[in-house]
Amino acid sequence: MKLDVTDKRVLITGASSGLGAHFAHVLAAGGARVAIAARRRDRLDTLARELTGTAAEVSVLELDVADPGSIARAMTELAEAWGGVDVVVNNAGVTQTRPAIDITADDFDAVLDVNLRGAFLVAREAARIMRRDGKGDGGAIINIASILGLRQAGHVTSYAISKAGVVQMTKQLALEWARFGIRVNALAPGYIETELNADFWGTDAGKALIARIPQRRLGRLDELDAPLLMLASDASRFMTGSIIVIDGGHAVSGL
Ligand SMILES: NC(=O)c1ccc[n+]([C@@H]2O[C@H](COP(=O)([O-])OP(=O)(O)OC[C@H]3O[C@@H](n4cnc5c(N)ncnc54)[C@H](OP(=O)(O)O)[C@@H]3O)[C@@H](O)[C@H]2O)c1
Repeated sequence: MKLDVTDKRVLITGASSGLGAHFAHVLAAGGARVAIAARRRDRLDTLARELTGTAAEVSVLELDVADPGSIARAMTELAEAWGGVDVVVNNAGVTQTRPAIDITADDFDAVLDVNLRGAFLVAREAARIMRRDGKGDGGAIINIASILGLRQAGHVTSYAISKAGVVQMTKQLALEWARFGIRVNALAPGYIETELNADFWGTDAGKALIARIPQRRLGRLDELDAPLLMLASDASRFMTGSIIVIDGGHAVSGL
């Protein structure tokens, strides 16, 4: 079966850089209608210009997922513009590197409010729209988790807790929303080389980390494409509550 996303109405949060911008290119190339959302409007406008010509339609939404009011406004705007949404890629996220002993309440909230509460509120708003849409086939929510939601590493406690929450949230929502025809799955990437982390991989610490990955290399953005398209398309219509790990074997590395 073809991984067809033609004319699907797709919202991508955190689309202004990294994985989210890449996902927007992939889905647009597949003929989807894409709504790209994040806080940095200038970067979204640049991306929208790049996507024009490939995507069936491009829409730009200013969105701060740490702010419930911003989420409600963006989702209302989307529902009014498109009449519904078929796929949500819940990708907005922040990292934090800090010894757990030093993490303050504000540090913790800064990560959890975006990565977990924000992802939940986006999914909830989307589900309310998908349920109302009444086309019968509900929709697909794709949460971007991480192997740090499944395994441990030093000095990333807030982040790892948030992603473990995203893993469990995926299963909870899959259970509750199957009755609405809404599928909820997650991608759990390992370390993917992006512009932002490129410098780190040349350092001794970066090289040591790569040496612990069974495939002895980082992932590339395009290695997320097939799982993304599968979850966004009807090819995965019997899948819900799944966590797809894409990590060169990192999560199964030996002790
Ligand atoms: N790169 C990896 O190796 C890797 C591995 C596993 C999982 N992930 C996950 O993949 C996702 C994308 O990460 P990335 O590596 O592509 O990082 P990135 O380039 O820093 O992108 C993060 C995106 O999230 C957006 N964002 C951050 N805070 C936001 C907020 N409050 N409201 C709305 N958008 C917000 C940013 O846009 P604005 O700043 O414009 O708002 C940006 O577009 C994250 O969930 C991350 O945890 C990444």
